[in-house]
Amino acid sequence: MRIPRHLAIIMDGNGRWAELSSLPRIAGHQQGVETAREIIEECRSLGVQYLTLFAFSSENWQRPAAEVDALMGLLVAFLRGEIPNMLANGIRFNVIGEMGRLSADVQRILREAMEKSAGNRQMVLTLALSYGGRDELVRAARTLAHEVQEGRLQPEAIDEGLLDRSLDTAGLPDPDFLIRTSGEMRISNFLLWQLAYAELYFSSVLWPDFHRSELHHALGEFGRRERRFGLTGAQLYGEEIAAGEEKEGKPSNRES
Ligand code: FPP
Repeated sequence: MRIPRHLAIIMDGNGRWAELSSLPRIAGHQQGVETAREIIEECRSLGVQYLTLFAFSSENWQRPAAEVDALMGLLVAFLRGEIPNMLANGIRFNVIGEMGRLSADVQRILREAMEKSAGNRQMVLTLALSYGGRDELVRAARTLAHEVQEGRLQPEAIDEGLLDRSLDTAGLPDPDFLIRTSGEMRISNFLLWQLAYAELYFSSVLWPDFHRSELHHALGEFGRRERRFGLTGAQLYGEEIAAGEEKEGKPSNRES
């Protein structure tokens, strides 16, 4: 199985999963955390080097206060429970998003998890918390503007590499593969810059039901995708192979 170096997941459908069983929405989130544990462990054992999970968006603050509080409670319980596992399994914990909006307690636990796991090398687990892709780009632009204003940076020196290094994801490679569950076919403000060349995969399965077998199915699909990064098939594989494939009936418009 071809394994993406960086897998990003939009874990969607917890609320609908609960509603289908006439349970409160929070029961869906509780089950969602169990699924996250299973998928994190499976990704680690498959050799995914970077796993990024969209756990709480900038827009999620607008949900009813009781749901926001419950989600934060689940996050704290998840971290308390997972820190020993992360340390035992070589997982480095990382956060992207506007951490300043989270409560002081949550920030403290997140920092502790990042510090304790900083030396781990097997997999980087990034949680996107209070995260929005547009907000991340605005914050990066603001940082660069301050540097220009203070005379430490020339506007001409701003290029893709510098902007990339100014984002919350500095140091992480771009995702190769994005999975979104629950049948919604949107990016929803997730990693807008970083997903430029990612393969996208939409599953109709609700996140609490997205078990190992669903992940394997998605990875099988990833293995069948041809990633061209704007090149032609001929450039990627050599003229002979590309010519052979076209004879076998593959589409000939290979330009993007
Ligand atoms: C989407 O379901 C999920 C979220 C809003 C994020 C919460 C994610 C978890 C609790 C799982 C993992 C958590 C951790 C800490 C690893 P939804 O409520 O938008 O579902 P709906 O679209 O069916 O209403």
